Amino acid sequence: MSCNPVAMMVLMLILAIMMAATVKKAAAQAKPGCQSHCGDVIIPYPFGTGGDCNISEDFFITCNTSVIPNQAFLTTGNIQVMNISLDGHLKILGSAIYDCYVSGTSSTFQVDLLKFPIDSIRNKLTAIGCDTYAFVRGNNDEYATGCLSFCSSITDAINGSCSGIGCCQTAIPKGVRGYNITLGSYTNYSRVLLDNPCSYAFVAEDGVYNFSNSDLGGYDLQDKEFAVVLDWTIGYTNCSEAKEDMNSFACKENSICVDSEDTYGYLCNCLDGYQGNPYLSNGCQDINECETLQPCNGTCYNLAGSYNCSCPEGFEGDGWKNGTGCTRPIHDTSPLNVALGIGFGFVAILLGIALLLLMLRQRQIVKLRQKYFLQNGGNLLQHHLSQREGCGEKIKVFAAEELEKATNSYHDSRILGQGGQGTVYKGTLPDGRLINHRNVVNLLGCCLETPVPLLVYEYVTNGTLFDHLHNVADESFIPWEARLRIAIETAEALSYLHSSASIPIIHRDIKLANILLDDNFTAKVSDFGASRLITSDQAQITTMVQGTFGYLDPEYMHTGQLTEKSDVYSFGVVLIELLTGQKAVCFKRSEEPKVLPVQFVSLMKEDRLLEILDPKVLNYGNVRHLKEVALLARRCLRMKGEERPSMKEVAHELAGLQAISLPWDKSNLQEEETEYMLGVFGNSYSDGATGSSLGYDSINNRVAFELEGAR
Ligand SMILES: *[C@@H]1O[C@H](CO)[C@@H](O)[C@H](O)[C@H]1NC(C)=O
Ligand SMILES: *[C@@H]1O[C@H](CO)[C@@H](O)[C@H](O)[C@H]1NC(C)=O
Ligand SMILES: *[C@@H]1O[C@H](CO)[C@@H](O)[C@H](O)[C@H]1NC(C)=O
Ligand SMILES: *[C@@H]1O[C@H](CO)[C@@H](O)[C@H](O)[C@H]1NC(C)=O
Ligand SMILES: *[C@@H]1O[C@H](CO)[C@@H](O)[C@H](O)[C@H]1NC(C)=O
Ligand SMILES: *[C@@H]1O[C@H](CO)[C@@H](O)[C@H](O)[C@H]1NC(C)=O
Ligand SMILES: *[C@@H]1O[C@H](CO)[C@@H](O)[C@H](O)[C@H]1NC(C)=O
Ligand SMILES: *[C@@H]1O[C@H](CO)[C@@H](O)[C@H](O)[C@H]1NC(C)=O
Ligand SMILES: *[C@@H]1O[C@H](CO)[C@@H](O)[C@H](O)[C@H]1NC(C)=O
Ligand SMILES: *[C@@H]1O[C@H](CO)[C@@H](O)[C@H](O)[C@H]1NC(C)=O
Ligand SMILES: *[C@@H]1O[C@H](CO)[C@@H](O)[C@H](O)[C@H]1NC(C)=O
Repeated sequence: MSCNPVAMMVLMLILAIMMAATVKKAAAQAKPGCQSHCGDVIIPYPFGTGGDCNISEDFFITCNTSVIPNQAFLTTGNIQVMNISLDGHLKILGSAIYDCYVSGTSSTFQVDLLKFPIDSIRNKLTAIGCDTYAFVRGNNDEYATGCLSFCSSITDAINGSCSGIGCCQTAIPKGVRGYNITLGSYTNYSRVLLDNPCSYAFVAEDGVYNFSNSDLGGYDLQDKEFAVVLDWTIGYTNCSEAKEDMNSFACKENSICVDSEDTYGYLCNCLDGYQGNPYLSNGCQDINECETLQPCNGTCYNLAGSYNCSCPEGFEGDGWKNGTGCTRPIHDTSPLNVALGIGFGFVAILLGIALLLLMLRQRQIVKLRQKYFLQNGGNLLQHHLSQREGCGEKIKVFAAEELEKATNSYHDSRILGQGGQGTVYKGTLPDGRLINHRNVVNLLGCCLETPVPLLVYEYVTNGTLFDHLHNVADESFIPWEARLRIAIETAEALSYLHSSASIPIIHRDIKLANILLDDNFTAKVSDFGASRLITSDQAQITTMVQGTFGYLDPEYMHTGQLTEKSDVYSFGVVLIELLTGQKAVCFKRSEEPKVLPVQFVSLMKEDRLLEILDPKVLNYGNVRHLKEVALLARRCLRMKGEERPSMKEVAHELAGLQAISLPWDKSNLQEEETEYMLGVFGNSYSDGATGSSLGYDSINNRVAFELEGAR
């Protein structure tokens, strides 16, 4: 407790109020304005100390104030009152009578109780002695009862036992209002024991005296007084009679009248749930059981004369501590909740199943991808790539998911074109790309986890050469300088593929549609769908004829012998188309090609070249270029592959032509001179067709990649 003065004052105030309440409650037992105490004895109404404080003369209490503590006496007699209880009991003090053999006479003791009888149940007559009789006579000898006590030695007596040996006890009859106790020697003192000088007898409340054999041997009990319980009642009539005169009826509000069992008169009791003095008006006060009993586990309601318990909202139970109390409901089993629960459970199960199926499917997909990966030689490729680490030629092996992401799940909007080899999608990759040759569409990597392996190429923005040259709708016009440059770049790319790359590659499908142009009209050779990578000992491969009809090497078609010169032939056809601006092949059956290679060669032989050259690019300044390129084309188109120049030579010659810019007047263009020039150039290059175009740098490489049918 802190020493805060305010707190102390509050505490003291509370204590004072509590004490005042206690005093008031005790004081309320007496009539207002009446003496409530006499010494230790509380005097409740109907008892009182005179005047209207006692209900009648019988209930008068004399308080002797000359002794401390004050002593209360019943009426004006000498019966000292010890306790008054409103339940109809009154304790008085009674003396023991004694008879010591010296005197040799029997002794009697007279008590006149006037109205109040001895309580027959709560009191006993007790006699102590080894040759003793004692009896009580009451109501002018209406009643008499007594007992005998003997013993041969005081040691025979048993402590605590009053059964006739040294001590005897007997009950008091009902309705004894006054009695005489008589005590004497049964044998006329002929058997006096020296160790038992006295006999005693007394009426006392049962249990207040505990027999001890030591009491037999002395004089201690001579001056002893014992409590005696009397019954008190109101009046001399029963309840029903008493109620007839309500003025004199003693029972006030909230009380009931109870008939006395033992004697006449009646008592009053407060009703159940009330407490107080039923003989006073407003004496019976409602009991606040909620405070005193605290019987409820929930909310307690104190009612007039009763109380009840109930549980707060949301709890169930009767609210009683000795009952079911108040408990929070654990399971709400209302139908709606049950339905909701079942519903949620069902949904959860469905979700679970769906998730499981999804996981299984995902596993299947992964397994399938692994299977395809192995089937497509993924392990071999990876092994190979790892061995080639550091050679600057890295091909990434893509996962199927990466490509799906890059192409928006192969969405139709990403389709760039569809061809014999498959569908081309446009995709965006997050990481960088590999660079092999500036004029070759870069192969960025491949994916082997799909049923058909996918190849990943860089994206070239400006469409194909075919589009620019032949598509009617496309108005874009390529000047000769650009065409020459494109031819050079294409030739360099092919030359690179044939010789420069670590593994020689034969493109097999050179055509306008496979020459892509970027924004700067730089050529990029693409579509390696039909390509073959060959190793040194496979310079010639016999296989199924592939390629685009019209561009295809007639020798290859005839023999199935595939060499780099097949590409040279196809390039020759491309040159024709660049020179004439006409189609040199037909793509549809109905379509008529304007200039077939055969026609081109024969027209050249007839010296009618100028008739078929593209008039849009032909001007007198570049006739020489055109003619020389035409000658080169003718050499490329030779029937025997070995007579054709290598791509390296072709590229070299074209580059040389580009470098030489002769001031050539169209008016000077003479037939002789043309012949001459053709002759000069034709001779100088005609027999240089066979050269070492297969300059591999990976002579030890014996692994062949079969990328056929892929894209
Ligand atoms: C109370 O007792 C006294 C003394 O006996 C008596 O004078 C008085 O009348 C009694 N009071 C009543 C109301 O009977
Ligand atoms: C009160 O008690 C004393 C001592 O026992 C006694 O002398 C006196 O007479 C008593 N007074 C009354 C009024 O009984
Ligand atoms: C009077 O009797 C009542 C009940 O019998 C008891 O509670 C109370 O303590 C007693 N008072 C005295 C002073 O003996
Ligand atoms: C007690 O005995 C005496 C004389 O022996 C007698 O006058 C008196 O009425 C008796 N008292 C009772 C209550 O019996
Ligand atoms: C009985 O009690 C007294 C004292 O209360 C004791 O002195 C005595 O020895 C006891 N007698 C027996 C037989 O226990
Ligand atoms: C009476 O005395 C005996 C022994 O002295 C003891 O065991 C017993 O508990 C006592 N009884 C009562 C009611 O005091
Ligand atoms: C008891 O004894 C005495 C003398 O010892 C005698 O006078 C008296 O009559 C006797 N009483 C009875 C009732 O025997
Ligand atoms: C009350 O007393 C009257 C008269 O003595 C009697 O007739 C009646 O039966 C009694 N009532 C009860 C309930 O004892
Ligand atoms: C009510 O009963 C429950 C369970 O028995 C208990 O946990 C809770 O403390 C009780 N509440 C009161 C106010 O007694
Ligand atoms: C308890 O008493 C209160 C106040 O009268 C009442 O509102 C409530 O319904 C009662 N509860 C029970 C369970 O009787
Ligand atoms: C609980 O106790 C109260 C008062 O003691 C009683 O009225 C009620 O019947 C009891 N309830 C049960 C279930 O025992």
